[in-house]
Amino acid sequence: MWRRHWLCILLCQGFSSARDDWRPESEGERSGRKACELRFFQTDFAAENFQSKWLNQKNKLAFIQCLYHLRTRWRHREKEIFAGGIHYPTLVTAHHTWPPVSTSGAKLCWLDQLGVHRNSIEPSDCCDQRYGPKGRPDCWDEYFTYELCCVGDVNLAEMPHYFVAPAFDINVGNAVRQLGTFDLGQSYALQTLCRSGDVVIDVGANVGGFTVPLAERVGPEGEVHAFEPFRKVFQHLNANVALNGLSNVYTYNVALGTAEEKVLAYVPDLTNFNFPSAIRVLDQFGPEAAVSEANLRYEERQETLTVRRLDDFSFSRRVQLIKIDVEFMELQVVLGAKSTILQNKPLIWMENEAYFDDPPNRTFVDTMHRDLRYVCTAVARLELFCAPGKEAPNGGLVQDDGLIPAGFRRVFRHLSGEVKDMHLWRALSEVDPDFAAK
Ligand SMILES: *[C@@H]1O[C@H](CO)[C@@H](O)[C@H](O)[C@H]1NC(C)=O
Repeated sequence: MWRRHWLCILLCQGFSSARDDWRPESEGERSGRKACELRFFQTDFAAENFQSKWLNQKNKLAFIQCLYHLRTRWRHREKEIFAGGIHYPTLVTAHHTWPPVSTSGAKLCWLDQLGVHRNSIEPSDCCDQRYGPKGRPDCWDEYFTYELCCVGDVNLAEMPHYFVAPAFDINVGNAVRQLGTFDLGQSYALQTLCRSGDVVIDVGANVGGFTVPLAERVGPEGEVHAFEPFRKVFQHLNANVALNGLSNVYTYNVALGTAEEKVLAYVPDLTNFNFPSAIRVLDQFGPEAAVSEANLRYEERQETLTVRRLDDFSFSRRVQLIKIDVEFMELQVVLGAKSTILQNKPLIWMENEAYFDDPPNRTFVDTMHRDLRYVCTAVARLELFCAPGKEAPNGGLVQDDGLIPAGFRRVFRHLSGEVKDMHLWRALSEVDPDFAAK
């Protein structure tokens, strides 16, 4: 977890926190928003032993409509950062909409103000141009339009996001506060590798910088299983899943390795500027070396961490994608996941710093090839993309392109700046036009 956002030099200029294409809030919208915010302050469902007027039909309806309006066009325009924390400082990022975390906000398109399926119409009907150039008119209102929901005008569909991270985390927490993910390019690329309904595994989830976008991408029918060994980092992961109202994430406070074991380990100090994401579970630096060699700070007291094998977990369906970022434990993760990998043949994205040494340490890549018949290629600095191999005519093994969604390579063209006039956030809907309409 050492790298900078790998495309920032090219692309991040455009991602200041302010949206340039947003019209200012009108007076009507502002007063509507204020009234709804006041309603949320005042509503007390429990008043008078749950017998008060707050629970009458009229108030409940107004409450639901406020939720709808505040999550769509009446929401707070400005991203805001709040500082808190009792034992260590935290930063809460509120109303993050830019850059978009994913395109999945468009899912709200099919819900009416009461949060139920709009007029019981099938989404595919709404976009069907046999009904007219803008599909079925009765699907749309002033918030959700044909352009937004069918054409995939995802910048409008973007929902506000909320994150919490330790204030002194200068790496992942810092990125999540600014970008809504750990790495924007990787987040979008990972999202092209899975789709609605898929099962995804996030190993080394940290505070959820990829867990959140992936959970949105696979949708309520999909699942994200997120593993994070460090207790307090894990608590932020859970907080971010909850803050964003994601129903499909399963979290595990464990490290993945080759055997079930307990290890006594140093844990990140959150009261100092630090790189919590770079702290290892095994083969840790001693406290002095951590500071001098890697600028990492530990708490004084060690904690007992739990290590398990991925193969000891079972998943309800085929696993489509595994993301691994585990600070030099990637070989152990994979060796403890052999049957999961051989049975499911997932695509695998992982950080593997050793391969980028000079000369490259090929142990990991060669093991993947020999033991699992996977072919790994470098996709960014420190990052490998591994896919099941197939026999090449010369007898060697090559990545089976048939297993890799076409969008993946195309997103890389966008991300590398080869397609210049295309905004990054459009890349996803461009490579998967059906997605916004699902
Ligand atoms: C190469 O990486 C493996 C783990 O993947 C490690 O065990 C080995 O010591 C490394 N070799 C060198 C020369 O650093």
